[in-house]
Amino acid sequence: MYRGLLLVHTVLVFFTIKSATTLSTAPTDRMNMPTVKFTTQPYEVAVMSTKESYIEGEFECYSGECFEMHKMCDGKIDCVDGRDESPNLCMGTIAGEDHYQCANGVWISHSKCCDNKFDCIDGSDEIPILCEYNEEWKGNAPKPCVEPIDKGLRFDGITAYHENRTHRFVYPNQLTRFKCYDKSSKMEGTEWNVCLITGEWRNDTRCSIKKPNYNKDTNGTNGCVIDKYDENLLIKKCDPFKCVEEVRPPINNMIVEFSCKGNTTLVPSKVKNSKLQCLDKKWINKGFDEDVECKNQCDGTQISCYDTLVPHCSNPRLAMFYCQKMMPAGTVVTFECKIGLRKSPNPLNVTCQDDGTWTDRSALKDYCTE
Ligand SMILES: *[C@@H]1O[C@H](CO)[C@@H](O)[C@H](O)[C@H]1NC(C)=O
Ligand SMILES: *[C@@H]1O[C@H](CO)[C@@H](O)[C@H](O)[C@H]1NC(C)=O
Ligand SMILES: *[C@@H]1O[C@H](CO)[C@@H](O)[C@H](O)[C@H]1NC(C)=O
Ligand SMILES: *[C@@H]1O[C@H](CO)[C@@H](O)[C@H](O)[C@H]1NC(C)=O
Ligand SMILES: *[C@@H]1O[C@H](CO)[C@@H](O)[C@H](O)[C@H]1NC(C)=O
Repeated sequence: MYRGLLLVHTVLVFFTIKSATTLSTAPTDRMNMPTVKFTTQPYEVAVMSTKESYIEGEFECYSGECFEMHKMCDGKIDCVDGRDESPNLCMGTIAGEDHYQCANGVWISHSKCCDNKFDCIDGSDEIPILCEYNEEWKGNAPKPCVEPIDKGLRFDGITAYHENRTHRFVYPNQLTRFKCYDKSSKMEGTEWNVCLITGEWRNDTRCSIKKPNYNKDTNGTNGCVIDKYDENLLIKKCDPFKCVEEVRPPINNMIVEFSCKGNTTLVPSKVKNSKLQCLDKKWINKGFDEDVECKNQCDGTQISCYDTLVPHCSNPRLAMFYCQKMMPAGTVVTFECKIGLRKSPNPLNVTCQDDGTWTDRSALKDYCTE
């Protein structure tokens, strides 16, 4: 029985360490890998060590959030990346022969193994290699999580995934980071994720795929492509001297200038005041492949009215951007505290949403304290 257990330790510790070494800079020789003995040494793998900034009494997730120490290895995932329950932090010293070490390094009482209940956060106390000879065991083992390719996602290079002939997958509690398969699509949700015992991902992430455009006048069939044509986009035809005559799609064999109506802003900013030529249903001098669109704006006074905060505004689609009275959707505002005030340890920012309203601003008033 004990021999069997030792073997299990070897297997489990092996795969947890494998994921750890994939992340660390120095490769470890698999064959010389200490097995059970390894667990007696506390270790912290240097993963992206530049991000580590220890605040006293706290630890930082790779994804950037900070939590109090007591949330570490408490059997509940707090970090979006699951780091607080990872072997990097939880691998403890040997607790005794009557104890069993979970794959994430936490020790549980041996009596909790194969009791048809998941006591380890990774379910490693209910796996076939450990339980198959136990008559009481009902065979309910943790399930791996399969790469969610149907959501446009792939594992990125940092993920120590496993694969068989048909799928790529990770084990429960294993650190995972996604990227979008199609580089032009946008990720919705968290890039980090954790595999749950049920074989499901903890957080819902997907990559949005461009909606097909069936309007022949704007999709390139009858004229040049204008992806986001709506009532705010104003197109004027240019003659050699000026652009005045308003035209509507399809746009073909002419030079035009775009602008926006009402309180909307033209993005990307380089389109503003530039004359674009459409020849044989193709833009000749567009020079970029982003969609041209008119974005709604958010009221800048709503984020600059706090006398404790100094806002910093940026917009990924607009160059040389600064905080102003009205700011287009997509603007991200981060904050500094006025001199003498202390920042809350939780990072905070607000974003201008497509409908022209800011994301939740309620935490702003308490962000800086004396
Ligand atoms: C590969 O692994 C996945 C996830 O565990 C599983 O669903 C699938 O059946 C496996 N395929 C083969 C051929 O073993
Ligand atoms: C991730 O999922 C957990 C549990 O469902 C939820 O509490 C948390 O808010 C989610 N985090 C993010 C960033 O979506
Ligand atoms: C544009 O729309 C037409 C009509 O709906 C469709 O047949 C065509 O495939 C579309 N073209 C493109 C490039 O999406
Ligand atoms: C633009 O926004 C300002 C301030 O919110 C408002 O007073 C004005 O009526 C708006 N103009 C249009 C054309 O919507
Ligand atoms: C804004 O906050 C979100 C969630 O806290 C974070 O994922 C994102 O990276 C932040 N963006 C910036 C520009 O700080």
